[in-house]
Amino acid sequence: MTEKQSFYITTPIYYPSGKLHIGSAYTTIACDVLARYKRMMDYDVFYLTGLDEHGQKIQQKAEEAGITPQTYVDGMAVGVKELWELLDISYDKFIRTTDDYHEEVVAKVFERLLEKGDIYLGEYQGWYSVSDEEYFTESQLAEVYRDEEGKVIGGLAPSGHEVELVSEESYFFKLSKYQKHLEAFFKAHPDFISPNRRMNEMLKNFIEPGLEDLAVSRTTFTWGVPVLSNPKHVVYVWIDALLNYATALGYGQADSSNFDKFWLDQTVTKSWTDEDGKTWDFTVNPEINHMVGKDILRFHSIYWPIILMALDLPLPNRLVAHGWFVMKNGKMSKSKGNVIYPEMLVERFGLDPLRYYLMRSLPVGSDGTFTPEDYVSRINYELANDLGNLLNRTVAMINKYFDGQIPAYKENVTDFDADLAAVVADNIASYHKYMDAVDYPKALEAVWAIISRTNKYIDETAPWVLAKEEGDKEALAAVMAHLAASLRVTAHLIQPFMMETSNAIMEQLGLGASFDLVNLDLAGLPSDVTVVAKGTPIFPRLDMEEEIAYIKSQMKVDEPETDNEWNPEEVELKSSKDEIKFETFDAVEIRVAEVKEVEKVDGSDKLLRFRLDAGDGEDRQILSGIAKFYPNEQELVGQKLQIVANLKPRKMMKKYVSQGMILSAEHDGKLTVLTVDPSVPNGSVIG
Ligand code: MSP
Repeated sequence: MTEKQSFYITTPIYYPSGKLHIGSAYTTIACDVLARYKRMMDYDVFYLTGLDEHGQKIQQKAEEAGITPQTYVDGMAVGVKELWELLDISYDKFIRTTDDYHEEVVAKVFERLLEKGDIYLGEYQGWYSVSDEEYFTESQLAEVYRDEEGKVIGGLAPSGHEVELVSEESYFFKLSKYQKHLEAFFKAHPDFISPNRRMNEMLKNFIEPGLEDLAVSRTTFTWGVPVLSNPKHVVYVWIDALLNYATALGYGQADSSNFDKFWLDQTVTKSWTDEDGKTWDFTVNPEINHMVGKDILRFHSIYWPIILMALDLPLPNRLVAHGWFVMKNGKMSKSKGNVIYPEMLVERFGLDPLRYYLMRSLPVGSDGTFTPEDYVSRINYELANDLGNLLNRTVAMINKYFDGQIPAYKENVTDFDADLAAVVADNIASYHKYMDAVDYPKALEAVWAIISRTNKYIDETAPWVLAKEEGDKEALAAVMAHLAASLRVTAHLIQPFMMETSNAIMEQLGLGASFDLVNLDLAGLPSDVTVVAKGTPIFPRLDMEEEIAYIKSQMKVDEPETDNEWNPEEVELKSSKDEIKFETFDAVEIRVAEVKEVEKVDGSDKLLRFRLDAGDGEDRQILSGIAKFYPNEQELVGQKLQIVANLKPRKMMKKYVSQGMILSAEHDGKLTVLTVDPSVPNGSVIG
């Protein structure tokens, strides 16, 4: 017997700092689909997920709740595991960064890198965002606050969270030493990041400008893995977290058989020769895959390969970076009352519609909008109508015309068989291609192309007409066999996405639960099996209006009771700002202001200087850091923008007083100013 090829797939490990919403459910289901698909394709799969339990944020949450961090994360872990059970996630291991084996290896790895000289002790001063667990340089800040002399006194991280100036003794990782290595690796392995355009983004925005050494320890809090040789330091949470992918397999432990199998074996060499004629060789394991959200791609594409290089370990094959599920009014956040939790959707509509919807609706690599309307209509049209009806009609006709026995599959009996067979074969091939590319919307489109073609085939062959003529019995038999065969193919293809539905189709066709995705075709239909006497609809039709209203009502209510008693209070979602009182919001005056003049500011490549009419008699001057997004800044003249009108004026660039702030939206690292319809008078108050 030949040994199966191994395949390693990982989700990010989630911060257990709040109840997980459909965003985290998305990544976990997406990895589950891949794990199930690869198992069906005869791979030996290891699917890892888990929790990132250290760090200041968790320590703070626990303190607020008056319990120890360990008690806090123990409680949260119970809730997360229950959620994965509800979503039928087939993970092979659930790692927690507080697991002893993981902590021991993290501490050992740190010492090893110290001995090697890749980590050294220094002093760190920087702008730190607790919510992001990340330091920023001044130039990385999205917004900078200055005092009257123009000295920076604070600001906002790109996520919108407040930063504070922190100065501490810190260990540093010599990322700079690996700069060339990493660049060479990106060149040697151009498929490392999918979608591919993100690779260029990483290279141009972060790597080529030069990697700064990374602060990899903290002394300002204690909830982390202590540095063995200097325990007042704890290891930086991202170093701790990234190592989970290796420790979960047994790296650095007595039993490292999984690590050998899923990380070390099956490697290939990738090479690249640079402009100076130097050849760089890299060992890559083609079956290691990490799936991550776009917000954490930088950590995975820069820090993680460098850690592995420093440890002389093979590099992963692929980072799949997905976009976010957002709502019509932006990111999900409790204060907006637009958070969707998976439990509610499963309870109301069942698991398969949720898995289907999430996998079908998020376009590869970009954000997608969750809307209740879309959710309900996909269930009604694609699941109940297209798929559910096809099964019902097929089972009913085989019962009616052939006493429930599926006739033998024969090719090319009716005029329509060849085309159906060709469409099915083509779409099976597309499905595999897209599954390998982790493009689920397209893979599912291929399956639905089969379903639609099969529905059309019923109309073309009109079995109820064939049934009237004894001479058409053979054609009628062929039609029934084609319908059953096509549904069998469909059940196979949707198995990684919707296990229950797939099993129900197979059962109603009398085919049991045996799947063969590797050799799948129409002709694989067994004959002489007996379909169920009366099929039950797999997706009942929904009353659209009622169900849309139901989902909306669930978005507005307070957070549902948590699954475990240790989720002590409302906690914000990552990247949403702290909750504020209405009065705080009401204190801000946002007004419509028309751009009269705009120019670039000498000595700054970021700032534009605006003269605006905000309806208050005299023009205002505002400096805004959007220059790089508006290379043709004159296009803004005459536009009506939104400004914060009562912000304390501040001096910028030592000589200009900025009298307010121009509002813009951030997306994919870009800023776009918020414009207002030209008919709205200058000075109108927005609120
Ligand atoms: N703990 C780190 C990951 C460490 S991995 C070594 C972390 N955790 S997180 O809980 O904040 O985020 C985990 C993942 O959830 C990220 O990949 C993030 O992109 C994803 N999502 C969070 N909100 C999301 C949506 N609304 N939509 C899709 N994915 C989203 O970062």
